[in-house]
Amino acid sequence: MAKPVSIEVWNPNGKYRVVSTKPMPGTRWINLLIQQGCRVEICTEKKTILSVEDIIALIGDKCDGVIGQLTEDWGEELFKALSRAGGKAFSNMAVGYNNVDVNVATKYGVAVGNTPGVLTETTAELAASLTLAAARRIVEADEFMRAGLYDGWLPNLFVGNLLKGQTVGVIGAGRIGSAYARMMVEGFKMNLIYFDLYQSTRLEKFVTAYGEFLKANGETPVTWKRASSMDEVLQQADVISLHPVLDKTTYHLVNKERLSKMKKEAILINCSRGPVIDEAALVDHLRENPMFRVGLDVFEDEPYMKPGLSEMKNAIVVPHIASASKWTREGMATLAALNVLGKIKGYPVWSDANRVEPFLNENAPPPAASPSIVNAKALGLPVSKL
Ligand code: DGY
Repeated sequence: MAKPVSIEVWNPNGKYRVVSTKPMPGTRWINLLIQQGCRVEICTEKKTILSVEDIIALIGDKCDGVIGQLTEDWGEELFKALSRAGGKAFSNMAVGYNNVDVNVATKYGVAVGNTPGVLTETTAELAASLTLAAARRIVEADEFMRAGLYDGWLPNLFVGNLLKGQTVGVIGAGRIGSAYARMMVEGFKMNLIYFDLYQSTRLEKFVTAYGEFLKANGETPVTWKRASSMDEVLQQADVISLHPVLDKTTYHLVNKERLSKMKKEAILINCSRGPVIDEAALVDHLRENPMFRVGLDVFEDEPYMKPGLSEMKNAIVVPHIASASKWTREGMATLAALNVLGKIKGYPVWSDANRVEPFLNENAPPPAASPSIVNAKALGLPVSKL
């Protein structure tokens, strides 16, 4: 028998029981659920990562929907438990859902929601921050200063890389990759090389137009190139940011062999998912190439780092905070709650998961739809006409 899990209850007499496996930022998401007749139960257990057993205990005998987190293993056991409790809806509070077995959810008739559109710029901004911090050695310099080692200005003190005129490489030019590319091109006048299975016409047009603007103002224009292989990006770019989804094809996409193809002074950024990089090979590469730098938001065995990584001065490591701006995290909570609510209420699915602004407007009621259900087609759910 599983140990009971501590919870906080809102609107105890609500008709539908919705469980959130974590407290989430803001209160709008709670209010929206309550206003629509939900009893909301929020897990307040101290431990960071809940086990499958903990979540089964939370689901209990009657549960209409669950809002979960990317640290949880949503597979056969959990969807079976949710379905047995009468649940028809689950939403990750994340855009990525590699922790969710969507086929299993579909088998049990459970809709799976995610939260796209609200974290694009926030995540791209963190990737840009890591790029700047790595290029200008900000963390090393900060540590040096705090350690009382600064004796005075020196010509060779913490010399880093100038980004202007260098080439930024983007692997995966979807929403976040494109937003990052635009920031680096426009903000730092970098040239762009990208690799994606799909052509990013909008991104190409943006760089072309910006290049023309610079030229008209007597400045060197920026350029773009769509690479025919990922290796072309690795070989040519000075800064490379990874933005693929994690699946079988992208596991260890950056391995020992690929690292060896990169420039010795390149900067590698990862705000996607940890297993996209072979982290042990990366540690060896960092050790052997002190001028090579990385900025990592995600790790292969999260929350752990591979041995040696934390000692590397040429690595900047932050704890999976790419989406951690107040606006974005509150928005993610709202979208996740509305995904679950929409399915409980029998609403259709929103027609464009990237256009989520109407759900985030605090001065108006949200549309009667689930913002983003990834298995909507497989479940045959209707699409909103709004
Ligand atoms: C996501 O939403 O997938 C992000 O990794 C959370 O920061």
